[in-house]
Amino acid sequence: MPAQDRFPDDDALIDRLPPDFRIGAATSAYQIEGAAAEDGRTASIWDTFCRVPGAVDNGDTGDTACDHYHRMPEDVALMADLGLDTYRFSVSWPRVQPGGRGPANPAGLAFYDRLVDELLGRGITPWLTLYHWDLPQELQDAGGWPARDTAHRFADYAALVHDRLGDRVAHWTTLNEPFCSAVLGHVEGVHAPGGRSLADGVAAVHHLHLAHGLAALRLRADATRPLDLAVTHLLGTSAPATDTPTDREAARRADAFGFRFYLDPVLRGSYPDDLVADLGARGVTIPVRDGDLETIATPVDTLGVNYYRSMKTSGTGTDGATTDSLGRPVTRALPHGGLPVTGPGWEVMPHDLTDLLLRIARDYPGTPMVITENGAAYTDVPDADGHVDDQERTAYLSAHLAAVARARAAGADVRGYFAWSLLDNFEWAYGYAQRFGLVHVDYATQARTPKRSARWLRDTARRVRGDA
Ligand code: FCB
Repeated sequence: MPAQDRFPDDDALIDRLPPDFRIGAATSAYQIEGAAAEDGRTASIWDTFCRVPGAVDNGDTGDTACDHYHRMPEDVALMADLGLDTYRFSVSWPRVQPGGRGPANPAGLAFYDRLVDELLGRGITPWLTLYHWDLPQELQDAGGWPARDTAHRFADYAALVHDRLGDRVAHWTTLNEPFCSAVLGHVEGVHAPGGRSLADGVAAVHHLHLAHGLAALRLRADATRPLDLAVTHLLGTSAPATDTPTDREAARRADAFGFRFYLDPVLRGSYPDDLVADLGARGVTIPVRDGDLETIATPVDTLGVNYYRSMKTSGTGTDGATTDSLGRPVTRALPHGGLPVTGPGWEVMPHDLTDLLLRIARDYPGTPMVITENGAAYTDVPDADGHVDDQERTAYLSAHLAAVARARAAGADVRGYFAWSLLDNFEWAYGYAQRFGLVHVDYATQARTPKRSARWLRDTARRVRGDA
């Protein structure tokens, strides 16, 4: 592959990253593995949700996805060709512990065992996420995340995976984006399991936090070698749409519900008072029991930050009113306007990533961060040879890595960056329509073709490591 793009302004920042700054790519189990009913795997809530008419664009499912379950060695070879030093993947709970309780499924665990060995054999560090949204359906039937018991089931599952892979895997992330599991899945109804209840969503957030804390304690107790323990949150900023008291107050509510609800319990051991009051005004309490917050605040070594975009917040509805029909204050997320957008209409805001990282460094000092996801979907058009000249994605990645480097230079302790995603894959409610990959996947043939952005990442990683 020929040498690729340079972006002089970005490069001036990127070239200040230290040689041990991690550069990798991320995926998740349901989005790439396929083999949904093989070797003892049972259904997850996403297998079920995909079958709800209208839930996923085009009626797509993860049944086959990128067929990674069968093509794993080839995919790891591809990562090595792309010069990735670290690979972030997730373990499928229903593959490893069908039904979510009881003993491990040997065939399921064996797949991750092979994956880890394959990665290590190629000099790629495994960065393992235990939960990326694929809850076993049986646990959903027993109440899912709104039920406290699910947190205990998760800790058992975590211990079982760690028992098998802990001798070779040092980097353990408990959960990916509790906000999406809880709020998109239980309040907004757009992700599995498709619920629409604020009380369920709030209970789900708490039980996800508890699951993280219980698993963190278990892994710490079981580990026989140093562990890098993390949790990954989807974060952004929510500036007021205008400088009016109404919008400033709406932005405060959005920040409490969308940001501090996630970081405060884990990094400070408390829920924000203003959030508790906002929820109380809507008749909702967080189901905290004695000792929970201590468990949840079990120290982590790394905070995973997933960043795609930010929105601004208005306290006024489309009808001009500041309260809804039930008398509740309006909190409305709006695009900033006037900015380029990616495929799903997400605004490109690299400067906001710098602000976000500096805010975390200021408000939650002492926790190293890694960007565990960042990337963009665009309408990729392969040429006759299957190549995708994705200049927009390349520029997006460059601008965001530069934004990370800028935050680092200003004092934020950021230690790595994973592009989302290695491969085009099953993009949840968007199905296969939105392509985020560094590598194009032809779903009819499963052919993989690295895009221009993959070459840019390879060359950039080499430069940062000093082996360009
Ligand atoms: C994140 C998810 C990831 C992917 C990207 C685009 O919220 O963690 O699985 O869908 O968005």
